[in-house]
Amino acid sequence: MNIPVLTIDGPSGAGKGTVSRAIARKLGWHYLDSGSIYRALAIAVLKQGLKLDDIAAITELAGHIQLQFICEDDDLQVNLNGEDISAQLGTETTGNTASIIAAYPEVRAVLLQKQKDFKRAPGLVADGRDMGTVVFPDAEFKVFLTASAEERAKRRYKQLIEKGIDANLCQITSEIEARDRRDRERATAPLRPAEDALCIDSSGLTIEQVIAKVMDLIRQSGSAIE
Ligand code: DC
Repeated sequence: MNIPVLTIDGPSGAGKGTVSRAIARKLGWHYLDSGSIYRALAIAVLKQGLKLDDIAAITELAGHIQLQFICEDDDLQVNLNGEDISAQLGTETTGNTASIIAAYPEVRAVLLQKQKDFKRAPGLVADGRDMGTVVFPDAEFKVFLTASAEERAKRRYKQLIEKGIDANLCQITSEIEARDRRDRERATAPLRPAEDALCIDSSGLTIEQVIAKVMDLIRQSGSAIE
């Protein structure tokens, strides 16, 4: 049976998560937030006090962590070895650590099958950096979602301030730029659009407008979906 997959790749803060969850809900498909797998591993690495350049130990740990994803409405709860780590998942430290360990090919190889296993009927929306290029290269629908670094930093700043977390726009912008550079320039599975991806720049668009563009892509394919 052919299980349809929609991949949504792009840099952090482009709106992939919100768009992916909304589309998955509209279509009744499963949702893979692949960044949260790298983030959960980052949390495990920090908890164990491993050095970030100890590739062998991090790879070994990647093979042993138990992850559980519980999706309810718009909330994603992630359990690491039975412990709810959702609150730590979104911090800048977790994201930056995830970006560093995600550059190791050995680590990516171990996590590949965990991601492929999310493909289940009736369909999957997969969000990340290499969903359309490496994890699901045969996906029927591929989107690459970007926005300028300034726009993404402003969104992140607003999110943090709204949560009552102290934030500095200049620092967030430079961290976002550094993370983009690392994700784009790594040798294995770098962040780049798949050749057959529809590229959407979300700067200046509302989330609803981006969702409408992605839904158009699916409808235009003539697939018997919805
Ligand atoms: O999407 P995110 O911000 O939650 O991802 C955190 C980091 O994980 C990101 O900077 C790079 C890494 N990542 C990756 O290398 N490949 C993916 N498919 C998803 C995330």
